[in-house]
Amino acid sequence: MLDTIDARSDLEGYEPDMGALLARHPELQIERDDYNINVTANYGERLTPQEVLEHYRGHPGAGAPTHLYYHFPLCAYICHFCNYVKQLAPTKDPKEAYARWTRALVKESTFYLDEIPWVSKARIESFYIGGGTAALLEPEHLAEVLEHVRSRFSLIEGCELNIEGNPDNFCDPTRVTELVRLGFNRFSVGVQSFTEDVTRFTNRGHTAAMSRQAIENLVATGLPFNVDMMFGLPHQDPDTVAEDLRTLVELQVPTITIYRLRNADRAAMGIGNRAAWNLPKVRDRLQQEGLFPSLHTTYAMRQRAVEQLLAHGYRPSPCGWWSRPDTYPEGNIPRVSRNKWQRFDTMLAFGPGAYGWLTGHDRRVVQTHNVSDIREHIERVEAGGEPPLAFGRLLTGVQAVATALGFAYKSCQPIEVARFREGYGVELLEDEPYRGVFEELESRGLVSIASDRSQIRPTLNGETLHEEIISIYLHERIGSFAAEVCHKV
Ligand SMILES: C[S@@+](CC[C@H](N)C(=O)[O-])C[C@H]1O[C@@H](n2cnc3c(N)ncnc32)[C@H](O)[C@@H]1O
Ligand code: SF4
Repeated sequence: MLDTIDARSDLEGYEPDMGALLARHPELQIERDDYNINVTANYGERLTPQEVLEHYRGHPGAGAPTHLYYHFPLCAYICHFCNYVKQLAPTKDPKEAYARWTRALVKESTFYLDEIPWVSKARIESFYIGGGTAALLEPEHLAEVLEHVRSRFSLIEGCELNIEGNPDNFCDPTRVTELVRLGFNRFSVGVQSFTEDVTRFTNRGHTAAMSRQAIENLVATGLPFNVDMMFGLPHQDPDTVAEDLRTLVELQVPTITIYRLRNADRAAMGIGNRAAWNLPKVRDRLQQEGLFPSLHTTYAMRQRAVEQLLAHGYRPSPCGWWSRPDTYPEGNIPRVSRNKWQRFDTMLAFGPGAYGWLTGHDRRVVQTHNVSDIREHIERVEAGGEPPLAFGRLLTGVQAVATALGFAYKSCQPIEVARFREGYGVELLEDEPYRGVFEELESRGLVSIASDRSQIRPTLNGETLHEEIISIYLHERIGSFAAEVCHKV
């Protein structure tokens, strides 16, 4: 029963000091330069693009709840911390580049729609255009993408239509009105910090006044949106972070995401682009100059941020995304996160570096990964023929369950034992290795298990350490259990 868990005070046993919490859980400590969150699996059977397409063709996705993602890779400036797949928009004739990418993204999804009958019949509950900086696109380009999506896919009534951008894209109120007129009903805006030294040092192209204006414009729409904030950046300290959060709370931002700086090289992991700060020379210089806050200071920043959020009734769902009460129906989680993480529904992903997954069939997961080289991506799409897939991963058995559990944990919603019984044929609280992992997490106060054993839910301490728990307990422990079983076979 849902209220079995919710009835308990979520603050019971809560440890606000992340450093103290990690001291109690030394197995979960990750050094700053190794720190990265990757909820997708980097194990499983590697698939060629042709094999991914075969799985696509055989997947029974008609009528199944699905999330649709488009990745637009251009940005008006490149932030030094950013390891996402992105590229500077050309200064000469940028609108031509936007039009070219609009055509390419539409052409890529058209391939799947034309070749694979179920794709047009999947039940699209949420759509997200991100990047890069999707809100750089002009209304005419966004209208073209939306027209394509609405006419070729099966969107549910009231489908969540998300667009992501920066304060500089939302600080003109007429542009925001235009986006609402086009049909967008949820927004995401990356502010990172209101401290000018931080935004300047990281090469952001907006001031604090622009961020404030963008937020006011979005609040005026009456629609939900989230503001992305970062901590652990040069020129931040616990006081500036606390002040940033106080500003957002005062502005009544519905959802606030707090991301700790990840300086792991995601390009080397095959899932992103190198950030300027990943370059050893740059990283060493910043370190020598003492510009990266210590882990101790970084944890103090998080503590101060969370204090503000908790004091004003915000609660996390998914992990790291804190919402005001009653922002979203059913569990106070945005639909995009419900589809992607809580339920691990199929996600169709287009654009350079985009990755998605096919789920809900045969107790397995097929991860799909596009090429992350931006130029290669667009040239392959424009040339026609096969879509720009780089590889895939087929996950079965414990590996499929471990990945699904990582997503469910990330959602910070109750993990339904029955869903895993029906979807994967496992008893999370009886079968090994799951039972051992969850009992250990419960004994450490990182999850709570409902008294009728129907649900498992991260505690607030488990939310604080979610990235470490997903990586170490769910991926490594359950993943290595899989490897041991394979060795024995
Ligand atoms: C896909 S990114 C970019 C969206 C948008 N262009 C922007 O700049 O906000 C979404 C968010 O990821 C976060 N982010 C980017 N690079 C990061 C990093 N190295 N470590 C932690 N968070 C990061 C930022 O908060 C950013 O707003
Ligand atoms: S953080 Fe956003 S604006 Fe900055 S480079 Fe990354 S995607 Fe572009």
